[in-house]
Amino acid sequence: MTFNSVLVAKPTYFEVAYAINPYMTDASGQLNKVDQKNAQVEWRSLVDTFRETGLKVIEMEGVHGLPDIVFTANQSFPFWNKFTQKYEIVLSKMRSAERAQEVPYFEKLWKGLGFTVHHLNYSGAFEGNGDAIFSPDHGVVFGGYGPRTDKEVYEELSQRFGLEIVPLELRLKDFYHLDTCFSILSKDVAAIQPDAFSKEGLELLRSFFPVLVEIPIEENRQYFCGNCFCPDGKNVIVQKGSPTFAEHLKRLDFRVWEVETTEFMKSGGSVFCLKLFFPG
Ligand code: ARG
Repeated sequence: MTFNSVLVAKPTYFEVAYAINPYMTDASGQLNKVDQKNAQVEWRSLVDTFRETGLKVIEMEGVHGLPDIVFTANQSFPFWNKFTQKYEIVLSKMRSAERAQEVPYFEKLWKGLGFTVHHLNYSGAFEGNGDAIFSPDHGVVFGGYGPRTDKEVYEELSQRFGLEIVPLELRLKDFYHLDTCFSILSKDVAAIQPDAFSKEGLELLRSFFPVLVEIPIEENRQYFCGNCFCPDGKNVIVQKGSPTFAEHLKRLDFRVWEVETTEFMKSGGSVFCLKLFFPG
């Protein structure tokens, strides 16, 4: 079983209905307005790109009243359970009440696909693959904590499932999930937003990745480069338009697939968090 599939959720009811991160409002503090039609078009073309890069896609229905369900990286966490020798799922505990009701839809879906699903005993917050990124190549979980996930949850994950955690504190509120400032591109290469990490965090990252592509902070804020997605060490899917990041990737011989996620960036998310990568 290898990571070859993505789970996505249709943006049928996508909007910005509340603000739980700094991107969801405009300069005057008003909630961003989503162009629904454009959101459907962008999403469909993103899903087509996933398929073109060779991924299997599972499409969930959207749910009225749960606009952020489209960010399917957040409600669950697929990982390798050392004790059972199987890929299994841990369900998230969302930081905000607005998103809590998304999680049961994922529980149902995973069970339907035959996965073992675990609930956390820990009562604090854990936002799934937005913060916990399992790397089969390195055999560890890169575990972001701070804004959306509590550090304590990683103790339970390591004790219950034998996971080795690389804890990474997230220092800036604009980079509130690990997947906004860190993206694994291959065994040796990762893209990072250096300012988002502590000195210790950066040292840990350097010890795993001989090559760290540093994203200029303004470019990351504007184009969500840190939220790019590389499924296979070769193809990188990223929001269109970044002035230097895409060029940097091309120089490193990655094939860059530029997509439009502008409607979803109004809610604080882009390519990586619009899907959940899992072994199907
Ligand atoms: N509006 C969503 C939230 O704030 C966006 C989530 C984006 N997800 C991500 N993993 N970066 O929860």
